[in-house]
Amino acid sequence: MSTHSITLKVNGEEHTREVEARLLLVHLIREELELTGTHIGCDTTSCGACTILLNGRPVKSCTMFAVQASGAEIASVEGLATNGNLHPIQEGFTEKHGLQCGYCTPGMMMTTVALLKDNPNPNEEDIRWGVAD
Ligand code: FES
Repeated sequence: MSTHSITLKVNGEEHTREVEARLLLVHLIREELELTGTHIGCDTTSCGACTILLNGRPVKSCTMFAVQASGAEIASVEGLATNGNLHPIQEGFTEKHGLQCGYCTPGMMMTTVALLKDNPNPNEEDIRWGVAD
């Protein structure tokens, strides 16, 4: 088994790990870094529960190897709140009860953060398309 040394920044904190080439990014985030707010739903690139931001872009972390993220900046749901204050997206989801079972909510919030960064005033169609990816 060969391993690779990777360094990446997650929620502003730099991490270096020795990982197998086959390790998925979502497993690195959840199991190595213990950031379990990123969920695994389908494991087949369909549901988006595992969505994180990779260099500011939403990525399904079950579809990417950890080694591919070496050198990247990653944001997970744990990085949204600052100084104990919820991010406006978290407040919005809370206020509007924007969830069903809640399992995919972390991924939906990360996707929404990226959507609003690109388009601060989306219409309903923009939102539907934005969160459908
Ligand atoms: S776990 Fe469903 S898209 Fe990654």
